[in-house]
Amino acid sequence: DLERAQAYFDDIIARDSRIEPADWMPEAYRKTLTRQIAQHAHSEIIGMQPEGNWITRAPSLKRKAILTAKVQDEAGHGLYLYSAAETLGTPRDELVQQLLDGKAKYSSIFNYPARTWADMGAIGWLVDGAAICNQVPLCRCSYGPYGRAMVRICKEESFHQRQGWEILYTLSNGTPAQKQMAQDAVNRTYGPALQMFGPPDDQSPNSQQSMAWNIKRFSNDELRQRFVDMIVPQAEALGLTLPDPDLKWNEERGHYDYGELDWDEFFGVIKGHGPANAQRLAHRRAAHENGAWVREAAAEYARKQAEAEAQ
Ligand code: 3HC
Repeated sequence: DLERAQAYFDDIIARDSRIEPADWMPEAYRKTLTRQIAQHAHSEIIGMQPEGNWITRAPSLKRKAILTAKVQDEAGHGLYLYSAAETLGTPRDELVQQLLDGKAKYSSIFNYPARTWADMGAIGWLVDGAAICNQVPLCRCSYGPYGRAMVRICKEESFHQRQGWEILYTLSNGTPAQKQMAQDAVNRTYGPALQMFGPPDDQSPNSQQSMAWNIKRFSNDELRQRFVDMIVPQAEALGLTLPDPDLKWNEERGHYDYGELDWDEFFGVIKGHGPANAQRLAHRRAAHENGAWVREAAAEYARKQAEAEAQ
């Protein structure tokens, strides 16, 4: 009965164990995980666009091959995450339709344009770096399929972050124009990358419940702080600066203090008014339409296979 099921669920959470698809779960648990995993999947798929735009313009065959591999990884992460979301009962074409209809969220960071090749470095180093900070704790998410998907995804993100850092390192040690291009890309990406961790804790309606259910292991601000502490020495090693005059080591906190972020801009972006929201959705819709024939062919092939097996 419901009481026993709820008690069983509460005990699994209290023991910091795992909920699997066949287990009973509160509808609100199912709902918030479907919400988060679907948004995560959408982020991976939309995240392919800024980098995809630079594959044909990569400065060397090596860079082209690495960037192609990274974009392919992100497609795979998206499909992995749609599969994890489907185990909660919502079919992926329903989730994808929400994205196509402009009704679904995806990571704010991808609504900013990638203006130069150096952005490929800033995305790898900062965006994938932030993604790693956010995703490593998600490997211990109480929902089994999501936690397990994160283990595989985090391994590939580390390669993404390294190749980004290496692009910036090469540019920073190149000509003055290349160094300036790298610095400009870092200047544009730093703020929005810090906002990937979500709004400040006192403006985060989902955090408390997500933490009670061992979905979210650390608060938005805790992970943001961890990320800032990580990138300050890395920026020094790059010979680049971070665009934040308030950034300074705070001895008694044992962390770096950093400046206020523009949350009006953030909430505008997640409402759909970012610099590239319309472009990203238009591209995603066009890809869906251009790929319709593949879906039809696959469905027809599956039908014929089923027919043949039925005979
Ligand atoms: N972009 C867009 N929307 C965001 C956001 C962001 N960066 N941060 C928060 N939001 C939204 C939330 O979805 C929520 O709206 P909703 O209730 O309609 O879903 C609202 O703002 C309030 O935020 P909360 O802090 O209450 O929401 P969460 O508890 O869900 O925390 C989160 C936000 C930390 C992003 C959490 O959802 C999360 O950890 N998600 C999984 C990680 C993820 O999505 N990462 C994407 C990174 S990009 C990527 O991985 C691609 C890379 O490989 C290139």
